[in-house]
Amino acid sequence: MARVLHIEDDPHSRRLVAKILRAAGHEVVETDNGLEGIRLAAEVEPDLILVDINVPDLDGYEVTLRLRSISSLAGVPIVAITAEGDRATSLAVGADGFIGKPIQARKFAATIEKFLGGHRESGSEERAGARELALRDRSQRIVERLEGRVRDLQEANARLEEMARLRREFLQNVSHELATPMTPVVGYLRLLLGEELGELTPLQRKCIQSIQRSTTRLRNVVETLLDVSALEAGRMHYYNRQYDLADVVRQAVERLQHEGDTSRVQLVVDPALPSAPATGDPDKIQRAVVHVLDNAVKFTPRGGRVAVGLAVGEDAVEVQVLDEGPGVAATDLDRIMEPFVQVDGSATRAHGGVGLGLAFARRVAEAMGGGISVEAAPGTPVAGLTLKGTLVRLRVARHAPAKLTEG
Ligand SMILES: Nc1ncnc2c1ncn2[C@@H]1O[C@H](COP(=O)(O)OP(=O)(O)O)[C@@H](O)[C@H]1O
Ligand SMILES: [Mg+2]
Repeated sequence: MARVLHIEDDPHSRRLVAKILRAAGHEVVETDNGLEGIRLAAEVEPDLILVDINVPDLDGYEVTLRLRSISSLAGVPIVAITAEGDRATSLAVGADGFIGKPIQARKFAATIEKFLGGHRESGSEERAGARELALRDRSQRIVERLEGRVRDLQEANARLEEMARLRREFLQNVSHELATPMTPVVGYLRLLLGEELGELTPLQRKCIQSIQRSTTRLRNVVETLLDVSALEAGRMHYYNRQYDLADVVRQAVERLQHEGDTSRVQLVVDPALPSAPATGDPDKIQRAVVHVLDNAVKFTPRGGRVAVGLAVGEDAVEVQVLDEGPGVAATDLDRIMEPFVQVDGSATRAHGGVGLGLAFARRVAEAMGGGISVEAAPGTPVAGLTLKGTLVRLRVARHAPAKLTEG
């Protein structure tokens, strides 16, 4: 029994060959494209390889050339199969034989046995010249194709760069267009609520307070857009001040309780938050912590708990936020740090957001000489609680890198 690798894009031919070979007691591994064929050849250690000349991506000649450069396949017969391919070229690129299509079952089986038994077709000496010509012709065509591919890639790359630029500009324009009209809205709301424009009836006050809450939400989204747009354009400006991360955490929690909907869950802040003095930009860090807290609260089901703690190290301090949400799959842990990536990005998803929170938090943490990490179901207690959800650690250096602006 032998193991035969068959590289062929036409399913009918694949089925026919598999049937014949299996009837003869052989094992068949098959694929419909050249690149996968090359990978499989190195992996499955075949006793014989059948290559269709007419396959997409790399053609059969190119596949054969490549297979011949894999040392573990030395001595493994490669047989080209084709309707219109050419024998001289097939042998020139390293095939040991050539079978024409259409395949005739009886003859095919016998030919395969011959190759498995050690038979090799070799062109006679007088054909050597023809072979050299075929090989050169083949190489020229490969280079031509390569040239075309490289050109395609360059074009695709230029298009991607253009799209990235447009995306940056769009983000910048949208955030500014949204931010500008917010200013009078916020200002007049403050005047109204301060009763500087006249006394309010209790009902009017309730309405305006409701408008203010919605406006605050809107402002937070716009603020995040502005932040990320500034980050992408490399225009983010950081201050360098002394602060205590414990205060920053408490303020972030307060801000979230004030502006967000935290009543659904129980927010447990470690009552013994250690003092964590550091230097850096406390306002940006606070916003980053709010984003992390917002996620924990958002993804934790009603009645669940979110634990908030602080770890103080020699060179770094770390905020820990542990929740009782669904956790994050291992394959998503890196992705979700990228701007706009949400595990569920569909319009029908259960949770709001634009996918910029973690991207912002990561950039801020990194600018402060730290970083952010997400772990699923970690088993580490935070504020005395061991919860089965996601643990996000936001770490900053005690002394932010010197390049920050003094302020
Ligand atoms: N605590 C968490 N639990 C589960 N999934 C999370 C958590 N935090 C973040 N994620 C995942 O990461 C994605 C990106 O988060 P983020 O950048 O804050 O954007 P947004 O909250 O706007 O979706 C979320 O959509 C979610 O899929
Ligand atoms: Mg978020």
